[in-house]
Amino acid sequence: MVNKISIVGAGRVGESTAQMLAIQKLAQQIMLIDLDEQYAKGVALDIQETSSFYQFDTQLTGASDIGQIKNSNIVIITAGIPRKPGMDRADVLAVNLKIIDEIMDGVIKHAPDAYVIVVSNPVDVLTYYANQKTGWPRHRIIGQAGILDSMRMSSFIAMETNYSVNDIQAMVLGGHGDTMVPLPRFTTISGISIEHLLDQKTIDVIIQRTRGGGAEILNLKQKSSAYDAPGAAVTIMVEAMVHNKRRLLPCISMLEGEYGQNDIAIGVPIVLGKNGIEKIIELDFSTDEQAAFNASAQAIKALIKEI
Ligand code: 2OP
Repeated sequence: MVNKISIVGAGRVGESTAQMLAIQKLAQQIMLIDLDEQYAKGVALDIQETSSFYQFDTQLTGASDIGQIKNSNIVIITAGIPRKPGMDRADVLAVNLKIIDEIMDGVIKHAPDAYVIVVSNPVDVLTYYANQKTGWPRHRIIGQAGILDSMRMSSFIAMETNYSVNDIQAMVLGGHGDTMVPLPRFTTISGISIEHLLDQKTIDVIIQRTRGGGAEILNLKQKSSAYDAPGAAVTIMVEAMVHNKRRLLPCISMLEGEYGQNDIAIGVPIVLGKNGIEKIIELDFSTDEQAAFNASAQAIKALIKEI
């Protein structure tokens, strides 16, 4: 357990994350920051009132003053406008960039020793921006996308095949958008690549559904994008850091030559522990896999040019 985790943005993803962090007993204090102070207080109190059911002692607080993040071990950024049906994650870039810019001013000022997890979209570009703005070592600012996309892929494999999701390990790298790179060769059921277990047609269906996973939820819900699976994905990251699990997980990191890329933040397999990104794992890509990864990097770089 760490002393304090702050979540900036008490919207649906922030709320879901706070609830799961409390259930998992990952922090003594959870601070929810939102422009709407009353709303943040309401979310915090609502979750606090689940404590006797879930048996946690975590104290949850809501506030609008970013100064309240001080002494946080981890700051999670979920603030920003979500996309509406028909919108791309990139369509929210201009607005969310401004929001992230202000939040990072607060993080630099009030929580200069914290680790930062970026969740707001377009998450690859915003993770890049947060890294650039702070100039902090790259291991301290990590973006969430690959765990969510891989959890979706695992669910779809389980649904298509009836194998237990407990045995499925998916690997989705690249950007968190239409160009994301689900990797069947590195996706296994009890250690056996799905390429050995499923036919190509089934794999193609799973890949397509994974790429459109966020949009599928948005189209169904209409009034909101996904928040339960994103909250779970962030919780997996926090747990790996707080308990120094050194888990090998797909997350967004700045690259400095890995995978032939520089000056970009993109999803790659990392080792995640108490020091944040402890290592970047370089996979031996096939020509097709490298081409798909490069195309995804190009799409992110095109957005980075806009900032
Ligand atoms: C998702 O994939 C909104 O990016 C988020 O659901």
